[in-house]
Amino acid sequence: MRVNAPVRVVSIGGGPAGLFFSIVLKRVHPGADVVVHERNAPDDTFGWGVVFSDQTLGNIAAADPETFARIAESFVRWDAIDVHYRGRTIRAGGQGFAGIARKRLLRILQERAGELGVDVRFRSEVGVADIGAADVIVAADGANSAIRRAREAVFGTTLEGRRCRYIWLGCRQPFEAFTFAFERTDAGWFQIHAYQFDADTSTVIVECREETWRAAGLEAMSAADSIAYCERLFARYLGGHRLMSNAAHLRSPWISFVQVNNARWHSGNIVLLGDAAHTAHFSIGSGTKLALEDAIGLANALATHDLPPAAFAAYEAERRIEVLRLQNAARNSTEWFENVERYGALEPEQFVYSLLSRSQRLSHENLKLRDGDYVREMERWLAQRSGLAEPVPPMFLPFRLRELQLVNRVVVSPMAMYRCVDGTPDDFYLVHLGARAQGGAGLVFTEMTCVAPDARISPGCAGMYRDEHLAGWKRIVDFVHANTPAKIGLQLGHAGPKGSTQVGWESPDEPLATGNWPLIGPSPIPFGERNAVPREMTRADMDRVIEQFVRAARMGIVAGFDLLELHCAHGYLLSSFITPLTNKRTDAYGGSLANRLRFPLEVFGELRASWPDRLPMSVRISATDWVADGITPDDAVEIARAFTDAGADLIDVSAGQTSRRAQPVYGRMFQTPFSDKIRNELGIATMAVGNVTDADQVNGIIAAGRADLVAIGRPHLADPYFTLHAAAALGYDAQPWPLSYLPGRDQYLRLMRRAAEVAEIVR
Ligand SMILES: Cc1cc2nc3c(=O)[nH]c(=O)nc-3n(C[C@H](O)[C@H](O)[C@H](O)COP(=O)(O)OP(=O)(O)OC[C@H]3O[C@@H](n4cnc5c(N)ncnc54)[C@H](O)[C@@H]3O)c2cc1C
Ligand SMILES: Cc1cc2nc3c(=O)[nH]c(=O)nc-3n(C[C@H](O)[C@H](O)[C@H](O)COP(=O)(O)O)c2cc1C
Repeated sequence: MRVNAPVRVVSIGGGPAGLFFSIVLKRVHPGADVVVHERNAPDDTFGWGVVFSDQTLGNIAAADPETFARIAESFVRWDAIDVHYRGRTIRAGGQGFAGIARKRLLRILQERAGELGVDVRFRSEVGVADIGAADVIVAADGANSAIRRAREAVFGTTLEGRRCRYIWLGCRQPFEAFTFAFERTDAGWFQIHAYQFDADTSTVIVECREETWRAAGLEAMSAADSIAYCERLFARYLGGHRLMSNAAHLRSPWISFVQVNNARWHSGNIVLLGDAAHTAHFSIGSGTKLALEDAIGLANALATHDLPPAAFAAYEAERRIEVLRLQNAARNSTEWFENVERYGALEPEQFVYSLLSRSQRLSHENLKLRDGDYVREMERWLAQRSGLAEPVPPMFLPFRLRELQLVNRVVVSPMAMYRCVDGTPDDFYLVHLGARAQGGAGLVFTEMTCVAPDARISPGCAGMYRDEHLAGWKRIVDFVHANTPAKIGLQLGHAGPKGSTQVGWESPDEPLATGNWPLIGPSPIPFGERNAVPREMTRADMDRVIEQFVRAARMGIVAGFDLLELHCAHGYLLSSFITPLTNKRTDAYGGSLANRLRFPLEVFGELRASWPDRLPMSVRISATDWVADGITPDDAVEIARAFTDAGADLIDVSAGQTSRRAQPVYGRMFQTPFSDKIRNELGIATMAVGNVTDADQVNGIIAAGRADLVAIGRPHLADPYFTLHAAAALGYDAQPWPLSYLPGRDQYLRLMRRAAEVAEIVR
């Protein structure tokens, strides 16, 4: 639709999306003939309050100042979040949200639409067939959109039911902060999300897992009885007020959240808007925000682009990214509330921090900006638990595994350098690992060090099977111990079906042009079309590989390594036994997960028996194959449990690289949720890894208890002094620098201070 083009636009649905769209369209294109059909009467809406962030209010103000002014007269603002958990109340401030009654919001939008000449028809339930000729039909008919349902294949709709039940209630209790309260019952955890939205009313959403809901008998209860149940359960937070329902028209007021997504948002002259196009879980309060911002996006696209499909394509392109970003955050948040049981063992301080940072959008520094006192108290609590008198940024908390004491939580992740000749680590490795140990990380890992020549990934890989290897590694370990506070871990592995491939900067995972060596694996399944077929291992092969691992570990003891990690991830030999994608054996080493774990556990058991008791062992696992029929995060919990029972002190939680069919979902800290799950479901120590790129993220992961250590790979290739630089940026003075480098540190700090001053002036 070009500006001033004569048009007929119809919205089916007069919720926040349809109404605000009609308002903004009339503003940018007053000549348009806009009709909104709403099946309900003006006042009969379900629900209580909705929340907006300051940013959303800004967007509304820019799109229609008049609507904003009326909303601003009606909303209730709050700044703090209160969390009630295990008899404690912890408050975090600086959260800045506004609440408004959904009824009031709709009334404002209805009136404003009427003033601008929109023809809003109430009690008018229509379908596309009833509309007749229209340039644009907006499907703003909500999460259950009948228009979308009738064309699911065209829109590529996916619906994903989630694991909780919730009920949306009102209450006269004036909550002074956004309130979360958690109560454990025999049936499981219940939580409320509550906030005030007008002078005398608050929204109270009660939520629990589906199975908890059933076990508590709520499924069989009448609406009135189930509301009475919630009143009793949460009485201490309700100040004697009743819980009120206005969803009497629903068969059951308890609903399950359904995640709606569509591969395409438009077809012909029909375009999806708001909840009809996508939903976002209420726990980040963003459904109405998205609906209103969609409305702005579509109206503007229609004013500035040609009629569909150009205008629709522009709208979809602009909105899809923002929606995806929010849905990702909302998904993390949804999962957090689905898994309260997992966090139920955390102390209140850490439980609350985990809750506040659940979407992975609010970082440690964000929280500090919002409420410095809250974060200081949290840091003080973490420090006390680590036996420190003064608070430190969480990444600088010490950590102990058996008799190994680490000075901080930063780890240089194992990374192959492909520079060895015949497996021997030379000067390159001394400088590489030495520099990273000087760079401040508490623990530095060798790359996957291979236990035999045919166990190597590539001809450039490091080994631990010849005397020269032992000498090479000992020289590096001695340097690290003599010159830095860092400790150094040895990662041992066998490439299995992913062996005999090119070095990292050539075509990794592809076979060598010449000089390939024979491969072994659990089953004769090649890693890819061009990779060699591995020979299925016999018992004799297994015994030989175990001996090779034990020999390498013994050499590791002589070299003086502080920790031994067994590589059971990324599709290499032990990983290829664990995943059902490559293990098709029919003997005791294939089939069930317990069987597939048998050989890796035999290797681990022999290593644990050879490795000194005082020193820890870790195991790196792939927590998911990112393939439908592969390892799942639930399997990963069982894998971690099995290794822990066998004596592992730390699970290093990586993911994927086990199949060329994998469809990983990348993003910031994208593997950390697996570490969180394993750590908190089993109560064991974990190391997170994967796209953790800055100190702020490390601080957040440690403070929230998502991991005990954080391994950082690629950022350490770009900056060996990652930790020293982080300490300087965070003003953490106790970080030791190599004495010879102190003048460099002082200048670095001066320059940082000056840059901060300049930034302050510019602001
Ligand atoms: C428990 C709960 C709490 C929530 N809390 C918040 C919150 O705090 N903040 C927030 O931003 N969001 C919240 N939401 C989400 C919010 O309600 C929705 O995301 C938002 O209302 C979406 O707006 P919409 O206009 O797309 O859809 P809806 O509000 O669902 O509107 C669709 C409209 O279309 C009408 N309709 C449907 N079919 C037809 C038809 N055939 N003909 C005519 N009319 C039709 C319906 O009657 C309805 O009025 C919450 C949701 C729930 C369930
Ligand atoms: C060059 C390179 C080599 C790697 N080699 C190994 C390895 O030998 N053993 C291992 O377990 N992981 C290896 N990895 C994976 C990293 O340890 C880490 O898990 C991954 O890079 C994700 O972390 P990042 O996002 O911080 O880089 C390697 C990664 C890179 C970039």
